[in-house]
Amino acid sequence: MSLFKTKSIADLMAQAANGEKGLNRTLNRGNLIMLGIGAIIGAGIFSITGTAAADHAGPAIVLAFVLSGLACVFAGLCYAEMAAMIPIAGSAYTFAYATIGEFFAWIIGWDLILEYLFSASAVAASWSGYAQNILREIGFVLPYQLTTSPFLYDEKSGWSLTGAWMNFPAMLVLALLTIILVRGIKESAQFNNVLVIIKVLVIVAFIFMGISYINTDNWVPFIPENTGTWGEYGVSGIFKASALIFFAYIGFDSVSTAAQEAKNPQKDMAAGILGSLAICTVLYILFSLVLTGVTHYSTFSLDNPLARQAPVAYAVDQMGDSMVFLKYLIKLGAMAGLTSATLLMLLGQPRIFYSMSADGLLPPIFASVHPKFKTPAFSTILTGVIAIIVAGILPKDVLESLVSIGTLFAFIIVCAGVMYLRYKKPNESRPFKVPYVYVVGTLGIITCLVQMLSLPGSIWLRLLIWLIIGMVIYFVYSKKHSKLNSNV
Ligand code: ALA
Repeated sequence: MSLFKTKSIADLMAQAANGEKGLNRTLNRGNLIMLGIGAIIGAGIFSITGTAAADHAGPAIVLAFVLSGLACVFAGLCYAEMAAMIPIAGSAYTFAYATIGEFFAWIIGWDLILEYLFSASAVAASWSGYAQNILREIGFVLPYQLTTSPFLYDEKSGWSLTGAWMNFPAMLVLALLTIILVRGIKESAQFNNVLVIIKVLVIVAFIFMGISYINTDNWVPFIPENTGTWGEYGVSGIFKASALIFFAYIGFDSVSTAAQEAKNPQKDMAAGILGSLAICTVLYILFSLVLTGVTHYSTFSLDNPLARQAPVAYAVDQMGDSMVFLKYLIKLGAMAGLTSATLLMLLGQPRIFYSMSADGLLPPIFASVHPKFKTPAFSTILTGVIAIIVAGILPKDVLESLVSIGTLFAFIIVCAGVMYLRYKKPNESRPFKVPYVYVVGTLGIITCLVQMLSLPGSIWLRLLIWLIIGMVIYFVYSKKHSKLNSNV
């Protein structure tokens, strides 16, 4: 049946060769690792950590980072095998096309829009928060109407209005980054490298300087007793927190969206994905240990909004006056981090559109490459415009949880796909092989599923609605225009 028709790996590689005529191959292994770190470190670590510790896990937020990191390592290994085997710009979308068939590939492609496009908006909203904080320090306060989303969502009371009009700074940064991306991936990679170095240095500085301010009493009890409600401390709190902070790890997979712009994708894809993930996992675990060691987790509760919004800057305040300079550095690092994460998410999405369009599932204009800049300019601008609108009007936490559930879903498909392909096509050339693939793949599926199940029903409903919209588009447009189907 055509819905389950798969694309052969040989066809995919031929398509990649054609792609070479369009996209520029300029990224080396170092660039790919930097790209991964650029996409990973962002809003998650700089703003969600405090909330997840205060409301759900306490000092055991460290274990939540370990759990979530493990899920990502399993999924990351599977991504690395797929990306080295099928180095095409479409990431999980392309992997699904090669394994489960077109319909699922479309669903994953559609799902990845949640990951990339919506996370660009979510991270830009965090950027806006830090930008406003810095502006306030120099005495410049933006009018409230221009600083936040007009809508607010709360699990208990549902949707309400904030009285604001839009999140203008978030929209502005997305517009500027879209312009940079249209101009070229090499320029974007260089800009990204500078930002990544700043944010990593700032995190390392926080860890090293923070160590001597740790009060080990803050870690006791390490796993606070559950309150009787699922997800409020105890073991269930660790699960809930891990689902929340999963957002902090998202991004390593975006390395695979740059496969067609990598100089040596077969060799460097795995290094880019796993290298960036490993570096960030270690940084996150140390970072959360220091954060909860310096400041008691309860400090980040709802009744202390300042600490909650900028947990890292608040922790630095606790270190005393001599550390004031670190506070400014942290804010600068957070801005750099959030800028590069937004940039990288905006970079990934057009490349998925590009692949989907090359397959006929989206109109041809999505795959058009700018004659001078050699970038998928139409898709980049469209991504930018939608991200700007979404960031302007939707609340950040709604976007973050949608991004998380969408990404977890994609990870599960990739883990399943790798195992299936090993079984179906055992002799295919694999420049990188997941060790103990059936164990790693199954653990990847279980750990991602546990995190998905820890997210509230309202998020599942939104994912479902999103997927249904995607299915309608598939049957109305994509199925009829699919190049694979027309070759039947
Ligand atoms: N991992 C990225 C962030 O935390 C999406 O901002």
